[in-house]
Amino acid sequence: MSGADARWLDSLEERARGVLPAPVLEYLVQGARDSVSTGEATAAWRSVRFRPRVLHDVTHVDLSLDLLGRTVEVPWGIAPTTLQRAVHPDGEVAMARAVADAGTVMVVSSNAGTPFSEIAETGAHWWLQVYLPADRTLAEPLLERAVAAGAGAVVLTVDTPVVGTKYATPGTDVVWDTVDPALLRVNFDPGYDAQPGAEKALDLGPHDIGWLADRTGLPVVVKGVLRSEDALRAVQAGAAAVWVSNHGGRQLDRAASTASCLPSVAAAVGDRAQVYVDGGVRSGLDVLAALALGADAVFFGRSPLLALVDGAPGVTRWHGALLAQTVEALRLAGCRTAADTRGLTAVSQANRL
Ligand SMILES: Cc1cc2nc3c(=O)[nH]c(=O)nc-3n(C[C@H](O)[C@H](O)[C@H](O)COP(=O)(O)O)c2cc1C
Repeated sequence: MSGADARWLDSLEERARGVLPAPVLEYLVQGARDSVSTGEATAAWRSVRFRPRVLHDVTHVDLSLDLLGRTVEVPWGIAPTTLQRAVHPDGEVAMARAVADAGTVMVVSSNAGTPFSEIAETGAHWWLQVYLPADRTLAEPLLERAVAAGAGAVVLTVDTPVVGTKYATPGTDVVWDTVDPALLRVNFDPGYDAQPGAEKALDLGPHDIGWLADRTGLPVVVKGVLRSEDALRAVQAGAAAVWVSNHGGRQLDRAASTASCLPSVAAAVGDRAQVYVDGGVRSGLDVLAALALGADAVFFGRSPLLALVDGAPGVTRWHGALLAQTVEALRLAGCRTAADTRGLTAVSQANRL
């Protein structure tokens, strides 16, 4: 291997810098407040050490898995992100085309700039992400639209009672003043945000998981969990999967890294639900670390979003580079499947995390 895949993956931000308006790029890459959590995320994955297996046949590496009742080709998907149409005119549709080609799943932000029906027309497997409003009934039209368009699951983001403050570089425009509002939140009814009760719920609880499952008939994934006891409360309330996330460091700055929180959540949940993780995962070795620490699947926010500057071909190239790295990492670790990676981390490392 020439390492070209690694160089290309590492260059995504630099490439986007030449294309995107400065406020948009800044919004994509920044974290909340001082970006401490954002800055630590990738380093936490890189600090994981492996004890590779040897004398195991690694001819056929099989990365496919059952994700909430549907087989996907790789143990990763696209995390929900806003502003996809500010990154590329085809936005979510381009992302979805690449996801359909890759045979994986895309989580569509409730703030998306493309109607659910157009995303569904690409044939991509997709889930809806939601924030619940103070008045839950206001969410019903959005949920109904997503179900009608074929969403396969609903992802409830639970780490955002309020939106974490992010600082704009002095002298640059605030992103929301530069982006056409028509590129955002097109799946809500007109005038939605002006209604009393449309603000984000401050009183989210486990009962909201059952409410969402009842309203949609879909599996519910709880995104934004860092503590094992919260993961258990979510599972007991009916969550089909728990998603370890600190929102890419964009909510509570100084929140612990997801690499450090994943092992205890995975141990607590066991086989009762699936466990996903995101935050700072950038390479095939990071994917291997996440699988080894107990994740069923990994989700990516900024990387595919930055690759989207080149439209669907950019995201397809990102996926291909990541796939090549991940297959190499599993082979070198003596693993053919995600299951083989469990317990691959050095004992002292697993204890320290
Ligand atoms: C520009 C941007 C917009 C995001 N929008 C949402 C969103 O609408 N809903 C949500 O649950 N998470 C959102 N996230 C968080 C991602 O889903 C994900 O948790 C995070 O980006 C993962 O970290 P990574 O970017 O290091 O891969 C957003 C992240 C970014 C970078």
